[in-house]
Amino acid sequence: MPIKLNRAGWPRLLSALPLMSDDPRSLALGRSGATRESFSQSVSVLKFGTTFKTTLPGRQPDSNRFLAARYAGKAPVVLDIGASDGSTSLDLLGALAGQFGHYFVTDFNISVRWGVDMRGRYYFTDASGACILSASPRWLIYADVGDAPLALRLLAKRLLSGSRDVSSWEEILLVHPELVALAHADPRITIARHDVFSPWAGMRPDLIKIANLLNRCYFSEAKIANALRVQCSALAIGGRLILVENRAEREQFSAFIRTTTSMQLEHSHDRGSDVAVLVPTSF
Ligand SMILES: C[S@@+](CC[C@H](N)C(=O)[O-])C[C@H]1O[C@@H](n2cnc3c(N)ncnc32)[C@H](O)[C@@H]1O
Repeated sequence: MPIKLNRAGWPRLLSALPLMSDDPRSLALGRSGATRESFSQSVSVLKFGTTFKTTLPGRQPDSNRFLAARYAGKAPVVLDIGASDGSTSLDLLGALAGQFGHYFVTDFNISVRWGVDMRGRYYFTDASGACILSASPRWLIYADVGDAPLALRLLAKRLLSGSRDVSSWEEILLVHPELVALAHADPRITIARHDVFSPWAGMRPDLIKIANLLNRCYFSEAKIANALRVQCSALAIGGRLILVENRAEREQFSAFIRTTTSMQLEHSHDRGSDVAVLVPTSF
C-alpha cells in the first residue's frame, strides 16, 4: 500500500495495526541514532524504487558463524552488497574479529535528501531527485504505488507533488554512525555506493555477501540472474559468494565457491537461499 500510518501520531493502543510504520522524520531530525536498533528501524522505513531498506542488527548469526569459521587466520577482501545502514556489516565485522584484508560496505541507496514544505510535511528524495516518500505526523506516502487501487495511486501522486514546494534540501548518509566512525578509524573499511547490476571495479573480492536484496518480490528472475553473473565474475578464483535471506525468524543461506569455469555449491543452511538456483553454473 502506498499509504501507511506514522506511529508517532497515533495512540499507543493502535501501534500493532499492520499499516503502522516507524517515523522516518527522526532521521532528518537526528533523533534516530540512540541505539543501532532505533537507527535501523528509521532507515528501514525508506523505500527506494521497489526495495525497502529493511535491516536489523543481529539478524544473521548463522551465516556470520559460518564465515568466521571459514576465514579464521585469513584476510579476505569482503564486498557486502546492499548493506542498508551497515548494521549487519557491523555484525559480520565483529564475527571476523579483525581477520579481513578490506571490507567494502556498499549499497545503491547510501544517502537520502530531505526537505520540509510550508505545512511541515517532510519529503525524501533519491540520488536522482525523485521523491520516494513523504511523512507527516500521522501519514507516510510512498512513491511506489505497486498495484494499489487507482484512487489511492492518484492520491499518493498528488500528496507527493508537494515536494515541488520545498525550497531547501539536506543530504543524510544512511549508514549507522558507529560504522562511519569505525571506517574513519580503520582504513581497511570503505563505505561506497555500488549497484548490484553493475560490475565491481574495485579490489578483487574473496567474499561477496548479498543479503535480502536479490528477492523475486523486488526484481525479475532475469534481472537477479544477471546481477549474480555480473557480481560472480568479479570474484577471485577460489572466492566465495554467500546469499542470505531472513524469512520471519529464520535465516537461510547458500555459499558458493568460484572455480575457473563455474560456481560450485559449498553449503546450504535451512533450505538455502531462494535464489541459489539462479547462480551461474558456468562462465
Ligand atoms: C532489504 S535491504 C537488506 C539490508 C541488509 N543486507 C540486510 O540483510 O539486513 C536491501 C538493500 O538493498 C539496497 N539496494 C536496492 N537496490 C540495489 C541495487 N541495485 N544495488 C545495490 N543495493 C541495492 C537497498 O537500498 C537496501 O538497503
